[in-house]
Parts: sequence; C-alpha cells; structure tokens
Amino acid sequence: MARQIMVAGNWKMNGSRDSVKVLLDGIKAGLGNVTKSAVVVCPSYVFLADVEQMIAGTIIGLGAQNLSTESAGAFTGEISASMLKDFGCQYVIVGHSERRSLYGEDDALVAQKYAVARAAGLTPILCVGETLAEREQGITEEVVARQLDAVIELEGVAALADGVIAYEPVWAIGTGMTASPEQAQDVHAFIRSRIAEHDAAVADKVQILYGGSVKGANATELFSKPDIDGGLIGGASLDAEDFLKICSAAP
Ligand code: 13P
Repeated sequence: MARQIMVAGNWKMNGSRDSVKVLLDGIKAGLGNVTKSAVVVCPSYVFLADVEQMIAGTIIGLGAQNLSTESAGAFTGEISASMLKDFGCQYVIVGHSERRSLYGEDDALVAQKYAVARAAGLTPILCVGETLAEREQGITEEVVARQLDAVIELEGVAALADGVIAYEPVWAIGTGMTASPEQAQDVHAFIRSRIAEHDAAVADKVQILYGGSVKGANATELFSKPDIDGGLIGGASLDAEDFLKICSAAP
C-alpha cells in the first residue's frame, strides 16, 4: 500500500497570538486544494490551546515540538506528554537537531522521549540527520543509523511503526541549501533498509519525511522520490501560501 504524504510545519520559536491566527486563517482558506497530504502544524507550547480551537473541524493535525520524559512533578519549565494530549496534540517532534545541538539532547534521551510519547498515545516525529562535517567525513549513514538504533534498542523495531521519521540534514536546515532529491532519497532508502534488516513490514509502512529548506518550489521533486513521504517544514511553514503549495505537492 502506498504511504500517504505528510506535510508538517515546525513553527519553531516564532509567532504571536495574532500572527498565528493570521497564518492559520490563510492555511485554512486554501485547504480545499489539499487532497492527498496529511497536514500537521507544530506551534510553540503557548499557542497550542489557541491552535487546537482554530483547527477544530479541519484536516489539520496538531503537534508539539518537544516533551519531557517525566510524567509530572517538580520539573520546572517542562511539559509532559499527558499535557500535550490534554491540548489536543496527536504528534510531537523528538530529537530535532536544534534540541540535540543547542540543548544537549543525546540519542539515549531522544529515544526515551520517543518511548514516553508513544506510551501516551502521541505519534512521535523522530528527527535524524548528519552535520556538514559528518557528511564531509563520509559518515552520514553511520550517524543516522546510530540515531535510529537508539530507538530500536530501547523500544524494539515495531515501535517505529507508531511514529514518523524525519530525515533532516543539519546543513540544510534554515540555510537554503536543500539536499538534492537524489541525496535525500539515498538517505531515506538507507533508513528504510536499516529498518528492514529488523522488520520489512515496519520498513514498508513507516513514513519518512525530509526536512531542510523545503519550499513550494522544490517540494514536488522531493516528494516524487520513492522513499520520501513528505516534509517537515521550518521557514516555509510560516508563510500560508508557500506552506499550502508544499501541502499540494504530493505526486
Ligand atoms: P527549514 O525548512 O527552515 O530549513 O527548517 C527545517 C526544519 O528544521 C524543520 O524541522
């Protein structure tokens, strides 16, 4: 069975109550043309309540950008999986490269976050990807395998069937330097084959999104590759018109 294309907007630490409303009004106005893709938005925590209301009755799904591994208690500044569920989240991004590089999240912690999200009935969007230095050293596959294996070792390969993977080469994030469709396809195929070594059915089912400078202008070519099942979109997801173009780019 063909995998459905998913387009998820990672709004990162952007927006205001007003700008979020304008953005969502713009996205909602154009959703009629989005017939093939699942659409998800991942606002900052503080906008979740507003966004939950604004997307009610639409096809838009809601995700958060991070979560705590703890369920409750004295963890100042943290947000639990059950809180995200309470605010209508179906998805949560785990292991984004900005969390890994700026906030010291390592593979083991990311795997734990994956597990906690899954246990709460959230769909984790697991980000993996190499830095420019790692690509230049020729260790892209090694890095991505290590990031994936941390989840497989903790949770078992079947757990990947409950999540979404996002391949985001760090050098392509926010730089305008998109991986070429061939470069992205190569890594996506590697990820799928790595999973298939454990379980072919899981490998066939899991959606693998590409992230890193996806725009309306390059989405169609990326999404037409056999192992690219959509995108995790940063900058372009803050522009309703460009985001909608990406959402309509499913082949
Ligand atoms: P850009 O689309 O801005 O490159 O960001 C990608 C990303 O990090 C999505 O999570």
